[in-house]
Amino acid sequence: MRWTRAAGRGLLAAAVVLAGYAGLGSPAGGGRGPVTLVTAGDLTDYLDPVLDDWNRARPDEKATLVELPDSADETRAQMVTGLRSGSSRFDVLNIDVAWTSEFAAAGWIAPVDPGRFPLDAFLPPVVDTATFGGRLYAVPYVTNAGLLYYRADVLAKEGERPPRTWSELERLAREVAPRHGLDGYAGQFLPYEGLTANATEAVRSAGGSLLGDEGATVTADSEATVEGLRFLADGVREGWIPEESLTWKEEESRQAFQDGRLLFLRNWPYVYALAGGEGSKVAGRFGAVPLPGPDGPGVSVLGGSNLAVNSRSRHPETAADLIAYLTGEQVQRRVLTEGALPPVRASLYSDPELVRDFPYLPTLRESVLAAEPRPKSPRYDQVSLVVQAVVHDAMAGRQTPRQAVARLARELRSVAREGAEPVRRGAGPAGED
Ligand code: GLC
Repeated sequence: MRWTRAAGRGLLAAAVVLAGYAGLGSPAGGGRGPVTLVTAGDLTDYLDPVLDDWNRARPDEKATLVELPDSADETRAQMVTGLRSGSSRFDVLNIDVAWTSEFAAAGWIAPVDPGRFPLDAFLPPVVDTATFGGRLYAVPYVTNAGLLYYRADVLAKEGERPPRTWSELERLAREVAPRHGLDGYAGQFLPYEGLTANATEAVRSAGGSLLGDEGATVTADSEATVEGLRFLADGVREGWIPEESLTWKEEESRQAFQDGRLLFLRNWPYVYALAGGEGSKVAGRFGAVPLPGPDGPGVSVLGGSNLAVNSRSRHPETAADLIAYLTGEQVQRRVLTEGALPPVRASLYSDPELVRDFPYLPTLRESVLAAEPRPKSPRYDQVSLVVQAVVHDAMAGRQTPRQAVARLARELRSVAREGAEPVRRGAGPAGED
């Protein structure tokens, strides 16, 4: 069974190499025609007008948008179901940066001709997220870095500045927040990719890491990893992280912040526009700073998404052109101004007009340049499931941070070992390990 799957994968990979880059070596029909762009939920509804402009200019190569659910994991699951069955329904896939390796290793996405895209114009760290095994498999489209949102009005009343260290954050979340009827701090703590991102940030900020050598070695077993998990677990145990946030993804946590229920929120830059807009109770009353760490600035993971071509696409030439359009200067500007998402084009971050309208751009640029990519692994989905399950147990108090780290290292090792049995999800009670 395992052999068959591996052999199948090998054949697919060979087919990809024979066909060459997406958009070249095209099938009959010149590889041109209507295409479908599949993406996670477009929360700011900016993509329809962007595609309308394309469709007006290319009536024979119309692009149709398919939106999947907001959550990273549900989106991945739905894409993977189609790709595994060899479906050509989606031509261009807007995939989370974390999945490039897995999709490339499985042969689901076709290598991209680097000469066709202005890679030099992108922020340097984002290009690496689109490569696997030394080849380009996608084109960076949106980047992302975690920020700490804070209630500027509350801190000003207290004569406090936004926190730069964990101990400052903890003190304010524990002491100041309740005086104003607020919960202290939250992020994305439901077990899904968002928790992997939050946990990786805590561990990296404490100076630890989870994996090395593109997933081949496990580095999780360290005091720094214990310290990272302790920051999150202590917060829940001591009450300055609300227990409710163990069920929150991006949107639930944004809602809590913009309903005026939280002093601090870790979230992505898209929140800046939405929490500042209509229907937000905190519009004009919040700010954003880089994530804090134990003794100074912390580390964000590098988020965002890349555009890739389904290796089964019947119209790969059009697909590649659509990617060039979406990553071109003009649409990249709209990604920021209409989509409220961080573009990948470096020049936009120093554009005076944009910096005036989006004052957090310089902070964001620094955060993106300093952000750490998630580990590259053909089994990234398994790695992430382990991290989510273990960290959630530690935060819910089912295991101590130290027990959790021992289990994390053990389970990551079994994922890293080739041919390991599938990793079990969920956990036993505290003390089981
Ligand atoms: C954001 C990030 C993405 C990350 C996800 C986690 O969408 O851009 O990289 O995996 O959040 O929820």
